[in-house]
Amino acid sequence: MINDRELVSAIVYTFIAFILLTVSLLVFIYYSRKKIIQKEIEKKDLEIKYQKEMLNAAILTQEKERKRIARDLHDDISSKINIISLNSHFLTVPNLSEQEIKNITSNIVDVSAKVLESTRRISHDLLPPIFEEFGIHVAIEELCSNYTIPGDLMVNYSNPFKQEIFDEIDRKTHLHLFRIIQELVNNSIKHGKATKIDIYLEKKKKNRLLKYKDNGVGFDMQKENAKKGLGMKNIESRVEFLDGKFKFDSAVNQGVQVTLSF
Ligand SMILES: Nc1ncnc2c1ncn2[C@@H]1O[C@H](COP(=O)(O)OP(=O)(O)OP(=O)(O)O)[C@@H](O)[C@H]1O
Ligand SMILES: [Mg+2]
Repeated sequence: MINDRELVSAIVYTFIAFILLTVSLLVFIYYSRKKIIQKEIEKKDLEIKYQKEMLNAAILTQEKERKRIARDLHDDISSKINIISLNSHFLTVPNLSEQEIKNITSNIVDVSAKVLESTRRISHDLLPPIFEEFGIHVAIEELCSNYTIPGDLMVNYSNPFKQEIFDEIDRKTHLHLFRIIQELVNNSIKHGKATKIDIYLEKKKKNRLLKYKDNGVGFDMQKENAKKGLGMKNIESRVEFLDGKFKFDSAVNQGVQVTLSF
């Protein structure tokens, strides 16, 4: 028979054990929650850092672009307009011979034509006009023919259904894709010394796919000197804008292969 004392002490021990269990459970929950929260904070910090880097890259590119436009305007436009202005003043000098007038006028005509060509080039660089009229399909075809040098560099573009891959509503995103392709091509030429570049584009229902490859020297993606420059960072932020998945592969002497689905 259990006596009263034993019963009381059994109850007390059970109670103490219960309290201990509850306390340790609470402590465990507290610390594991703390750990989870800490992990979340670290993840958020990383995200913020990445976004800051992207923003930084975007700002730097904008600055670089502004400098380039300023330089183009200064070197290509201002200097030529100066020449035109100077020549126009010469024309007002009294007693010029017919030959002198002819020379000055032809100089003005020549330089004006160059100014026109420069303004056309600068504005085309800013926004290829072909986009608005014909869409990205034709814009890429034009880019390929601009870069192709027979015998030295072949830039192929294939789009199996010859289709425009953007609808009217998402037309504003097509410039991102075009700039991505432009940077990839520039890198293939500048770093890869490629002689053959293949661009493939298709659209299946709502999904679009870009496949890109070059036959250049490639590079070791693990190496320190293969660090992302502004170009690759810009590609990443454009991919993010397109809400796409980007895969970049390369190795020494293996060229570069890229897929982008969005
Ligand atoms: N197609 C390629 N072939 C060989 N190396 C490449 C290729 N694309 C990129 N790289 C390597 O990746 C690096 C980063 O490229 P990224 O475009 O970011 O910078 P960059 O071209 O050096 O400078 P920026 O584009 O800002 O003018 C390059 O310096 C180069 O080493
Ligand atoms: Mg680059």
